[in-house]
Amino acid sequence: MVKLFVCQICGEPYLGESIDDCPFCGAPEKYLKSIEDYSKLWDVELTQQEKSDMKETLDLEINAAAYYKKVSKANEKYSKMDRLFKQFARVEEEHAEVAAKFLGVEEPELKGEDPKGSPQKDLERTKELEDAAVEKYQNFLKNASNPKVEKFYDALIHAEQGHAQIASEDLK
Ligand SMILES: [Fe+2]
Ligand SMILES: [Fe+2]
Repeated sequence: MVKLFVCQICGEPYLGESIDDCPFCGAPEKYLKSIEDYSKLWDVELTQQEKSDMKETLDLEINAAAYYKKVSKANEKYSKMDRLFKQFARVEEEHAEVAAKFLGVEEPELKGEDPKGSPQKDLERTKELEDAAVEKYQNFLKNASNPKVEKFYDALIHAEQGHAQIASEDLK
């Protein structure tokens, strides 16, 4: 039977019989819950450390979302690169949105680097960006003292590892 799931990380609703990763933010299945179990992730007071890590997270996510959107548009509409990077951009924008909510700020305008000139180079750059994000978020996870901030980085690490994996598969 179809039921309503709500992602504990990004708060987006999803209707389905079952679920894998969140289609909006890429959080793993364990974070998809029924509405009765939902509470806003960003309703917390951040420590100074969490605040500065969250600001860096927001910057990384905004750059990635803007870059991926441009890569998508640089490729033929409905081609594999266009679809893949459209979805990458969506997920990163969702991450930026949640980071902005944690910080209690408006989501900044999407601004970031330009496409690198070929699918090969963009996949390489994607792998680089995602690997770097995973490393950062592993540190931010260690720095976090709030369980909700920990959940956020746990989910982000999962999502970005997935992106890095797809990018390196496509590079083969
Ligand atoms: Fe989500
Ligand atoms: Fe992200």
